Amino acid sequence: MQDIPSYIQEHKDRFINELFELLKIPSISADAAYASHITAATELIKKRLTAAGCDGVEICETKGYPIVYAHKIIDPQLPTVLVYGHYDVQPPDPIDLWDSPPFEPVIKPTELHPEGAIFARGASDDKGQLYMHVKAVEYMIATDQLPCNVKFMIEGEEEIGSVNLDSFLATNKEKLANDVILISDTGMIAKDVPSITTGLRGLSYVEVSVTGPNRDLHSGLYGGAVANPINILTKMIASLHDADNRITIPGFYDRVTPLTTEERAAMAAAPFSEEAYKEALGIDAIYGETGYTTNERNSIRPTLDVNGIWGGYIGEGAKTVIPSKAYAKISMRLVPDQDWEEITSLFATHFKAIAPAGVTVTVTPHHGGQGYVTPTTHIGYQAASKAYLETFGKAPIPQHSGGSIPIIALFEKELQSKSILMGFGLASDAIHSPNEHFGVWNYLKGIETIPWFYQYFTKLAKQ
Ligand code: BES
Ligand code: MN
Ligand code: MN
Repeated sequence: MQDIPSYIQEHKDRFINELFELLKIPSISADAAYASHITAATELIKKRLTAAGCDGVEICETKGYPIVYAHKIIDPQLPTVLVYGHYDVQPPDPIDLWDSPPFEPVIKPTELHPEGAIFARGASDDKGQLYMHVKAVEYMIATDQLPCNVKFMIEGEEEIGSVNLDSFLATNKEKLANDVILISDTGMIAKDVPSITTGLRGLSYVEVSVTGPNRDLHSGLYGGAVANPINILTKMIASLHDADNRITIPGFYDRVTPLTTEERAAMAAAPFSEEAYKEALGIDAIYGETGYTTNERNSIRPTLDVNGIWGGYIGEGAKTVIPSKAYAKISMRLVPDQDWEEITSLFATHFKAIAPAGVTVTVTPHHGGQGYVTPTTHIGYQAASKAYLETFGKAPIPQHSGGSIPIIALFEKELQSKSILMGFGLASDAIHSPNEHFGVWNYLKGIETIPWFYQYFTKLAKQ
């Protein structure tokens, strides 16, 4: 493995160009109009996995978008690593806030990445990160240093909740059988502070509607005499948090496992600058649940946020109207041991209960998933830790993240496997936002670090 840096040096232009090719494909899962690009992405990944030396490369159909599967089995007696990633991306909107077109990747320097960062939708989440694995495996196969078996499962519906993966896992247990799952779809604390994500939040995503009068009304003739659905909806939403920013839904916190004093101390020890945090976001104050730090608020505490709200007249100029309907999309981030289906139903019951007479309320669940915790005692965690030590010169910090990857809890349920989250992104990558980017340094560092994981995992698994 000592020759990884020179292999990367020799092939880095190709590594970047190949990633560019993948980033040019707008494989947006949320919008059916992009279905042909989904197909293009799967075909390109299939071609690249084949070129990397994998066998059994296939595009597996599901009820939704397909999964690209591949493997390299060098000896069935050896351990097997299953690599998971997603080729679908978030919509690029709002498009006019991008400095360069989202599907025309370019390398530009930034303050954090003077050597350059790749700007494109999916650069960090998750095309750039999944492609590190394809190149790491290419290196190990090409130099005859793959120490164990590897399987790839690259899906296309992560950004819309992986709703068809449950049945794919249940019907393909044999094919996906593994000793550990390896994922790069998260971040690390800083370029010089490597970290491994050991906790992810669960998610419940709902859409609500409030309907008042049977048609839009003149706001002068009817204003004040009927319930205005937007007024009502915003009032109902505002009531979901109390003065301490705690969520008011009865039973919401019942299953929340509080952190121990030691766990809180460990979190507080991770490097964090509140000033830098505020500056990076252009805000003059932090905000959140009383009694918790920013890092706790955004990772180990449950939350409720409106993701979108609409209704009435939003065109140019003014139109005097009381709308018939108002809508909102709401996400709740959950922590162990909250159950997303239970929380969804607690929300629905409460939200309907607080609606005043004069309106009708609907709650439509979208998708959800359970949170996840990786024990640091797992050999996969230890192998990853040694890998970072090898390439960063320091051991990584275990870190809870606020994001969600619902499939990971399903992996545990269906395949009884733990997932190791070796993310190489940074908080500043602007994933899901305009100008998403991924440092060239991070991309290459990932390719350099991953093979060490295989090396150490194989050693530890044999012991
Ligand atoms: N890769 C992200 C999740 C993530 C990013 C976790 C950074 C930790 C650190 C993933 O693609 C994502 O965006 N997940 C969605 C959930 C999904 C069900 C839409 C999310 O967290 O909103
Ligand atoms: Mn992702
Ligand atoms: Mn994402």
